[in-house]
Amino acid sequence: MHARRQRLVQRRGWDRAVADYERFWSHQLAPAQDLLLTRAGLEAGEDVIDVACGTGLVTLPAAATVAVAGGAPGRDRSGRVTATDLSPAMVAEVEAQARSTGLTNVEGVRCGAEDLTVDGPYDVALCSLGLMYVPDPARALAEMRRVLRPGGRIVVSVWGERRRCGWADLFGIVDARVTSDVCPLFFALGGPGVLAAQLEQAGFVDVDHERLSTELGYADDDQAIGAAFLGGPVALAYAHFDQPTRAAAEREYLDSLAGFRTASGTYKVPGEFVVAWATRP
Ligand SMILES: C[S@@+](CC[C@H](N)C(=O)[O-])C[C@H]1O[C@@H](n2cnc3c(N)ncnc32)[C@H](O)[C@@H]1O
Repeated sequence: MHARRQRLVQRRGWDRAVADYERFWSHQLAPAQDLLLTRAGLEAGEDVIDVACGTGLVTLPAAATVAVAGGAPGRDRSGRVTATDLSPAMVAEVEAQARSTGLTNVEGVRCGAEDLTVDGPYDVALCSLGLMYVPDPARALAEMRRVLRPGGRIVVSVWGERRRCGWADLFGIVDARVTSDVCPLFFALGGPGVLAAQLEQAGFVDVDHERLSTELGYADDDQAIGAAFLGGPVALAYAHFDQPTRAAAEREYLDSLAGFRTASGTYKVPGEFVVAWATRP
């Protein structure tokens, strides 16, 4: 798919998904987000950019951590988090959530990962589960390198290998009913060594990574369907389906999950994430 079209599909899709994202995904993504934040090792007073911030599941804990003025030299003020996303609805949501939780050190900026409209310098760049949607991930990593100070850290996470993500048939099921791929590169970054190699190619040093296996639990068919079709990147395509197309796509998706359905009707779907971290020289 043409990069401009892919960005448009993503922006509109995530604008639609904003109201359903946390309901279906906050619990499921928490292990990967926690690992990313642990690897970031944020300290009070640090300035952070969170790229593809979504509703703020990483932004807000990061902001709470850096908010308190630190004792280290140059860290005698509260750190700030710049929360960037392609989707205006996501940026509005992260700002609203920051306000409602009393965090005054979050600034939302609407921009794509490949064209950050900020300069920094930041101490830390985070990108949690966003890079798979970006048409040119190398350019996005170069942008994060640009806005980091020398010695600054980057931590990035993506979904892992296709064969380790039990829900992976979703894209094929939706793509068969639309004229272009919704997420053409989705699993490309999750292959062995790929994310770390991308960081090295972008000029980062001290690159390392960790693979994390999890289980996505759904209480019933409706939850599994909601997570797949309402709370994520295929929300735009699904919104345009007529009722019979929706029903057929949902049926096919549930069939693809049949091996992960328990006797009581719940689902335990395997998932895998990769978290990689590095330093700007
Ligand atoms: C799965 S959500 C992750 C949100 C958040 N980082 C988290 O961990 O919950 C993916 C986010 O990537 C954003 N996104 C998709 N394509 C993007 C692009 N090209 N540039 C910036 N953000 C993008 C979407 O708008 C969405 O908010």
